[in-house]
Amino acid sequence: MGLLRPAVEDVRARHPSPVMVDAGSGNAYLGFVLYELYLKDAEAGTLLSVEGRPELTERAKVRAERLGFSRMRFQTAHIDAAEYPERIHLLMALHACDTATDDALLAAIRHGADHVAVVPCCQAEVAAQLKERRQAGHGSMPLLYAHAWHRREFGSHLTNVIRALTLESFGYQVTVTELTGWEHSLKNELILARRVHRENRRARVQLERLLAETGVSPKLTRELGVKPAALVAGAPAEVLPEAPVAAEEPSTSVE
Ligand SMILES: C[S@@+](CC[C@H](N)C(=O)[O-])C[C@H]1O[C@@H](n2cnc3c(N)ncnc32)[C@H](O)[C@@H]1O
Repeated sequence: MGLLRPAVEDVRARHPSPVMVDAGSGNAYLGFVLYELYLKDAEAGTLLSVEGRPELTERAKVRAERLGFSRMRFQTAHIDAAEYPERIHLLMALHACDTATDDALLAAIRHGADHVAVVPCCQAEVAAQLKERRQAGHGSMPLLYAHAWHRREFGSHLTNVIRALTLESFGYQVTVTELTGWEHSLKNELILARRVHRENRRARVQLERLLAETGVSPKLTRELGVKPAALVAGAPAEVLPEAPVAAEEPSTSVE
């Protein structure tokens, strides 16, 4: 919870009625803790839990009613089809499986979330794409994913690198850190992002190059229409653009 505190306190300080979303919320434990700590005694602010399994939504809804947590909202929906408030201030997704984390990031970017916190879960999509590319890759790169085990690990790593870079290219300042001790969870990578610019063209160019060099196309960049750069063999590397463009509504500290 300490890792989320700066984001929660920032949205509470800047928005009179903060909107927080927990995507793939399961039993909504995170939402209950956040509500208890930050929203229960506040005058306004809502916490929306989006969960695909109706029995979990129902159980959490009953619990919220019992506790009198009247500004907790629940939706049984896939993350990519949920009805979100027009503006989200903080979006979280802890251990949302495979591309569900991409769906959560899409919702965050499309609804202008000030803060994002995701802990990705298992990742299969990019590993499958790497399998298709084993013969097509250049140089030593394919050796990084020749074995199924390495494909899974490298695919997962590459996916999260692309997620972080995508957030950066949409103006977020990104921190990647560990959620908890490895003894508690192997899915332990926490990606924290705070929107500080309208866009970051430098990160966008890096992202497009990475997509071109690896040949993968994860759901996040596909849905956002990010295309791989056109790579020309032997051509000098294009000079990367300079400073990003500042956001319209800058966060507390703009770099
Ligand atoms: C591993 S659990 C994590 C639950 C909770 N976030 C936590 O950390 O305790 C993943 C949850 O995400 C839900 N989920 C996975 N993919 C989803 C999707 N596309 N749309 C909605 N819920 C999804 C699952 O039903 C499950 O309850």
